Amino acid sequence: MLEISKVSKIYDGKVSYQALRHVDFILPKGQFVGVMGPSGSGKTTLLNVISTIDHPTSGEVVINGKEPHQLPSEQLAVFRRRELGFVFQDFNLLHTLTVRENIFLPLALDGVAVKKMKGRLNSIAPILGITDILDKRTYEISGGQAQRAAIARAIIHEPALLLADEPTGNLDTKSSRDVMELFRNINREIGATMLMVTHDPTAASYCDRIIFIRDGSIYNEIYRGEHQNDFYGNIMDVLSFMGGDSRDVSTIRN
Ligand SMILES: Nc1ncnc2c1ncn2[C@@H]1O[C@H](COP(=O)(O)OP(=O)(O)O)[C@@H](O)[C@H]1O
Ligand SMILES: [Mg+2]
Repeated sequence: MLEISKVSKIYDGKVSYQALRHVDFILPKGQFVGVMGPSGSGKTTLLNVISTIDHPTSGEVVINGKEPHQLPSEQLAVFRRRELGFVFQDFNLLHTLTVRENIFLPLALDGVAVKKMKGRLNSIAPILGITDILDKRTYEISGGQAQRAAIARAIIHEPALLLADEPTGNLDTKSSRDVMELFRNINREIGATMLMVTHDPTAASYCDRIIFIRDGSIYNEIYRGEHQNDFYGNIMDVLSFMGGDSRDVSTIRN
């Protein structure tokens, strides 16, 4: 579904910096994959290259049989709107709009009829637990609710690939757990392929597979077995072997 082949990224500047080095992996359709690694290891760069926010210096990104980086800009805009969904750490909702208006925005940009938009929202709002807040403005809701609204916006067009960068980074423990349960439900019920960057081993333990990145290269990867607790333990083991940014590791251990 998602194929990354020999992807490298060099940021040019006074001093050029290689943020990704020959990264290779394949995500089968419907897999829920976490990306972990110390600060500065290239996680956001990887997500930006996959989401086409940024271009790889070399290598290929293939999503659903298409190479988005080869598309002309108009087709690329349509590809992003239809095939991709994004969830960010800081929610990225528009404050002048209600929750419902925020969720409808990507569909409205694509000219989807109101009736169809309402139908889709009716089917996802109960899963996300946002039915009661649809007419509120974004400053009237909690962080956890805002992230659930942002997830609704990211999945309402039924994207082939859902990308999330630290989606629980600004949430308390309870809201983080709720959001991760939701991601897992979305993954099961909609069958979306999902790639999530996270620092949090608890959040990561909800995934099917974790890819660890260090210094721009894949360091290791592990798959979930039957039990989430065992997977959590394995994730912690790899993180402590990997070392890296001590601040990250110490926040994880607290
Ligand atoms: N636009 C940029 N220009 C130059 N260097 C960058 C840019 N974006 C990120 N970097 C550098 O690339 C490395 C990887 O960054 P990033 O992908 O944001 O890491 P992570 O998300 O894992 O913390 C870091 O050393 C960072 O300083
Ligand atoms: Mg980052």
